[in-house]
Amino acid sequence: MYIGIDVGTSSVKLILMHGDGRIEATVSKDYPVSYPQTGWSEQQPEDWYNQTMAGLQALLRNVDATQVKGLSFGGQMHGLVILDAQDAVIRPAILWNDGRTSAEVAYLNDTIGRDKLSALTGNIAFAGFTAPKLLWLKAHEPENFARIHKIMLPKDYLAYRLTGVHCTDPSDASGMLLFDVKRRCWSQEMLAICGVEERMMPTVYESYEKVGTLKPDIANALGLADVTVAAGAGDNAAAAVGTGTVGDGQCNISLGTSGTVFIASDRFKVDDHNALHAFAHADGHYHLMGCMLSAASCGKWWIEDILGTNDYDAEQAAITALGDNNVYFLPYLMGERSPHNDADARGMFIGMSANTTRAQMTQAVFEGVTFALRDSLEVAKSLGIPITKTRLCGGGAKSRLWRLIITNVLGLEVELLQAEEGPALGAAILACVACGEYESVSQAADRIVSVTETLTPDATLVAKYSARYQTFQRLYPAVKAEFANLH
Ligand code: XUL
Repeated sequence: MYIGIDVGTSSVKLILMHGDGRIEATVSKDYPVSYPQTGWSEQQPEDWYNQTMAGLQALLRNVDATQVKGLSFGGQMHGLVILDAQDAVIRPAILWNDGRTSAEVAYLNDTIGRDKLSALTGNIAFAGFTAPKLLWLKAHEPENFARIHKIMLPKDYLAYRLTGVHCTDPSDASGMLLFDVKRRCWSQEMLAICGVEERMMPTVYESYEKVGTLKPDIANALGLADVTVAAGAGDNAAAAVGTGTVGDGQCNISLGTSGTVFIASDRFKVDDHNALHAFAHADGHYHLMGCMLSAASCGKWWIEDILGTNDYDAEQAAITALGDNNVYFLPYLMGERSPHNDADARGMFIGMSANTTRAQMTQAVFEGVTFALRDSLEVAKSLGIPITKTRLCGGGAKSRLWRLIITNVLGLEVELLQAEEGPALGAAILACVACGEYESVSQAADRIVSVTETLTPDATLVAKYSARYQTFQRLYPAVKAEFANLH
């Protein structure tokens, strides 16, 4: 059996999978996010470790743990984790959706220059990326910056605690803006621009390669024998493996805290404006990705925090007129990454009248998130990539209503899968490949992932949503200038 561990933003999700893809058990353990200032977002790496250990104990409770052959990771990307010479975590991790680095992003994109960044790494700077965080630390917490001995990403911190090996993989390294994505190695020039040295950086292994084995005390405590640990992948690349999004032009949409449109590519590609991220895939190839910072989290915010209920079914059942709604919602609760690259952007409702209902506002939230996903899909289509269908994963994908909205706002066939565990399943598949159970990531994904249902777009709804998307597209430019004045 194989274990996949997905270090998410709200929880760590663990899966125990047989070599043929049957799922034996799943476990999820929550941890908090702290928002020390508006637009900031941090987590304690120790929480990831403690909850992973608790999750592993729960996962293995009723099974013969000696049957576990391999383990690997998926993880929230871009987070900055720094350790000192004694291996102590220097400060809380600064997460992927933290927007404190506007000044550093402007310096990188405007002074160093977008063309140079793109030539060195394949990408430009976005607020959540790791390199601007290092520059922020150097400017605002120089005493912490001076103590840096090791730099790592969230899932790599877990790998380090579990194996003692300081490693990462190309898909996750891609999101640091310190990595030459096309050549799959650290960019010496970017390291110099950020004032860090290569000795601080993790060793890069392909996602499906063995990096080591569990430390004996950890293996003993869990009743595990000889467990191979594979490097794993950033959560989006891991989710792509877990949904079988492997092979040129395949598309996966993830509706988690973030929302992503992920397009696998055999060759390295970049769009003219670097609106999409050009990152490495976990199968040894590449992908393009649009990432919005608040996706399913907008639904959670609206239903739980604002409406004050946990009854998602009742709120969604009240929505009866898909396609017809005069209310629009801009989903930029944490600023926005793709395609606007604007850490100051914020959420907005517009179009309400005296007879607007609660259901219409709820509908507007789901639709607004999906229109924003379409922004990324349109960039991919403009590159001539023929996308006609997608797979779906993440918490939001469990909603039948949201699946219908996605099918019709994006005008794509949506393939629903037998296992919805996305990144954790992908991580288990990577462990499987590292142990030689399959010849390649693509062979493993082909054999393990199966489609159970395909949703097809309805021409009338697609036309209504296309007309409304034109309006949605005009809203952000119309208010953009004001966002910077709102805080
Ligand atoms: C991708 C991104 C998010 C996080 C969420 O670029 O920032 O999808 O990986 O976990």
